[in-house]
Formats: sequence, C-alpha cells, structure tokens
Amino acid sequence: MEYNNNKEIEKILEEIDISEEAPIEEPMRQYYFIKKGRAYVAELSEKLDRPLYVCVNTFGCQMNAKDSEKLLGILEQMGYKEETDENKADFVIYNTCTVRENANLRVYGRLGQLNRIKKKNPHMMIGLCGCMMQEPEVVEKLKKSYRFVDLIFGTHNIYKFAELIVTCFESERMVIDIWKDTDKIVEDLPTDRKYSFKSGVNIMFGCNNFCSYCIVPYVRGRERSRNPKDIIREIEKLVADGVVEVMLLGQNVNSYGKNLDEPMTFAQLLQEIEKIEGLERIRFMTSHPKDLSDELIEVMAHSKKICKHLHLPVQSGSTDILKKMNRRYTKEQYLLLVEKIKKAIPDISLTTDIIVGFPGETEEDFQETLDVVRKVRYDSAFTFQYSKRTGTPAAVLEDQISPEVMKDRFDRLLKEVQTISAEVCSVHKGTIQRVLVETKNDHDEHLVTGRMSNNLLVHFPGDASLIGKLVDVELKECHGFYYMGEIVS
Ligand code: 5AD
Ligand code: SF4
Repeated sequence: MEYNNNKEIEKILEEIDISEEAPIEEPMRQYYFIKKGRAYVAELSEKLDRPLYVCVNTFGCQMNAKDSEKLLGILEQMGYKEETDENKADFVIYNTCTVRENANLRVYGRLGQLNRIKKKNPHMMIGLCGCMMQEPEVVEKLKKSYRFVDLIFGTHNIYKFAELIVTCFESERMVIDIWKDTDKIVEDLPTDRKYSFKSGVNIMFGCNNFCSYCIVPYVRGRERSRNPKDIIREIEKLVADGVVEVMLLGQNVNSYGKNLDEPMTFAQLLQEIEKIEGLERIRFMTSHPKDLSDELIEVMAHSKKICKHLHLPVQSGSTDILKKMNRRYTKEQYLLLVEKIKKAIPDISLTTDIIVGFPGETEEDFQETLDVVRKVRYDSAFTFQYSKRTGTPAAVLEDQISPEVMKDRFDRLLKEVQTISAEVCSVHKGTIQRVLVETKNDHDEHLVTGRMSNNLLVHFPGDASLIGKLVDVELKECHGFYYMGEIVS
C-alpha cells in the first residue's frame, strides 16, 4: 500500500524524534529520514528565500512511471514543490531506462545540458536512478566523466530514497548506492499519483524469463510477487480516494503468485480485485504468451471490470528466431493462443511488441513476422529495431544484422502494422462506447479525451468537470488510431 493522504503521514511523522538514532525497521526508518530531510530543505529554502523545486524526469515504461510517482511522493513530503522545467529546479532526478541503447544515449546527452545549468546554479542537486544505474559500466562512466552528479541509486533500493537524499545533504561527495538484487518489498511509503481517477499498481517486480535480447532480468532482478492482501488493501484505499481504474503492473503478470508462501494464480488475484466495490475497470500488463492460462481467458471472458484489451508481445513470427530469443513458444503455438482468446472474447483488442533485426534474422524469418501480423490483425503494435545490450546472450551471437537491413525491415513492418491497425480500429464506427474521461484535449479546449475499454482514445465536446467520469460516447469518425465522438445522455 502507499500513502497519499497527508493527515496519515503527518500522524506518523509526529511520533518520530529525529534527535534519536534512526529506526532499523522499514518503512519507519524512511519516515525518520523524511522528517530529517524536511529540516534540510527548510534551511536551504530560508537561505534562498523561496520554496525549493524538484523536477522528476521519467524514461521508459509504466513501471518507471509508477516508481517516479513514489519518488515525487517522498520529495514532496520533504518539502519540495514539483516543477517541470529543469532550468528552475533545485533537485533534478532522472529515472532511467536501459532496455534499448538509445535510451542510454538520451540520458548522457541531457546530463551534458544539466551540467551547464548546474554551473549557474551550484546548489542544484542531480540524482540518477532506475534500470540504467544497475549496469556497472554506466556507473563507472558516471564516476569518471560526470562528477557533477550528486546521487546514484538503482532499482532495488528505491524505497531508501529519503535516506539517500539526507546522505546527499550531509555529504560533499557523490553518493552511490546500487544493490545487485533484493527479495525485499517495502510497503506503506508516500506516493504522488499523477491522475486522481486511475492508478498503476505493482503486483510483482523483476523477471525470470531471460529472453536472450533483454536486459530487464539483469537490472530488475528475480521475480517477486507482492502479497495479495497488500495489493487488495492498496486498491481499496485508491478506490476510497476516487480511483475507478487500475493498471496492474508486472514484467510478466501471468506468472504472478508462484513464489508466494501461499501460491496464487494471476487469474485468482484478478477475481479478488474484481470484488472491490467502486472499482470500475481493471487493466494489466505485460503478459507472456507462454504463461497465459486458460483460467485467465475464462476469467477475462466473464469479467465485468477487466478491460477488453490484452497486450501480448510476440517479438517475432519465426519459430527459429523465437527459439534463439528463448521465448519458449512457436509461431503456431502463439497463433493458436490468439485464436483461443478471440473465440472466448470476440471483442478483445490485441496489441503486441515486435523486434526486427534480431541476430541471424533472415528475410524468410522476417516474412514469418509479417505473416503473424496479417493473421492476428493487431489493434496496435510497438515495433523496435533490435538493440544489442551488453551482458545479454544475444549480444555475443554472430550474424548481427546491418543497420540498413534492420531499418528496411522496420519500415516495411511499420507500414503493415499501421495499415492493419487503421482497418481494425475503424470497425467500431457508429457504436456507443463507455469511456473514462482522462484529460482536456491539448489542441482544442472545447474537447475532452476519453479511453475505451479496448484502449482506443476518443475526443469529444466536453469540459473539465467530466474528467475521471465514465460516460457513453457515440463514435462518429475514425482517424486511424483514434475517434471523434459525441457524448450520449
Ligand atoms: N532490443 C530491441 N527491443 C527490445 N525490447 C526488449 N529488449 C530489446 C532489445 N534489446 C523490447 C521488447 C519488449 C519491449 C518492452 O522492449 O519488444 O517487449
Ligand atoms: Fe525482458 Fe522477456 Fe522478461 Fe519481458 S519477459 S522483461 S522481454 S526477459
């Protein structure tokens, strides 16, 4: 569970005496450091005669977005105010991703800019955390060439953030705290949710699959499931706080619960969550095709709350390549699974991740991928060019694909995916769909944007008072991957 209620947090903090030693037990130890950090923030703020600002910059996936809410929750409790412009911030923290090389390059590029800002603003603190920091070469490079960074920590000890900030305030040197792995899950820390009406909820951490291209198991550690009671308690609290939609997060949600003291399946967890009164919608990601059970399909087919959307990464359509990727299913098994899902849940929206240019991928292998795309007819697909990650088994394979071939396949795949996606999405034209209104429209202030159960977006006339509400919208025009519509009373 997480706290986002100030009264509860103030009550905990009142009972802490920072003149005493820090408690050993978590999460009380972190509350001790939040209180201690408040004193440092207040002191600096008085000196500067203005509030202190923090800018949290998130790279990568929804897991990181969720972690950033936790970082911001702790920073705000310490007295920082949120700021989106790095130039105006007293503390800038990058929550990094390392799944593909270009994510790393972006971080280095932006660090150069931060250095220039810090020269003008010497008391500025710079923190780096997340997946990229779990790579020893990265930390070595930062230690050598980026001495202006104040704090570096990884994915396993993010719960210690308050303690690390206090260490930074008390130290002149770069603070580095990276753990190789952990089996610890610390509950009950503050968080600052980005949306009042929907929220991500971690159900498990880490990954045990070791797909041969993927760095995630090395930087996020082994699979650990959260206790179902903690998950339910957190969602109940979120619902009491106004949340109507949750996104259950895990690298491989289909293997949820295997390592619990009392094992439980993901489908069973979903059924428990479904019972929570006031919760309207349940989403989850990501599913691994090899672990997707008949039980889950059954539960989804009969559920009133689980959204009609399944993200089912295929990665490649070639059985040979899938074997080299260590995905542990064949093209045929994947297609059979899709058939089974579509039969049980006819209005399901399917999305996927695809990598082109895995080492050794031939034109024939690539054609197999196109074949899967044509057979499944995905609502949408995230397409990636293979990126070599040091330390993964695929990095040392021979037959790495040239950038030209990779780009050519990528372009052809994207075209196919987009054409099919536009056709698949357009079938809903004229229907009335229940949507959760999420935001005011960026381009037209008379419009709001809502999300359908199948994850498609629709823009329609409305005002901010609708945000967070579920309304029925008639889909008037399809524009490829979104709709224009009108609310029906
Ligand atoms: N190169 C390219 N794409 C990758 N992904 C993971 N590792 C790599 C890599 N080395 C993609 C996969 C995964 C998604 C989150 O990122 O498709 O499903
Ligand atoms: Fe990476 Fe495979 Fe785990 Fe997904 S399932 S995080 S692709 S190792």
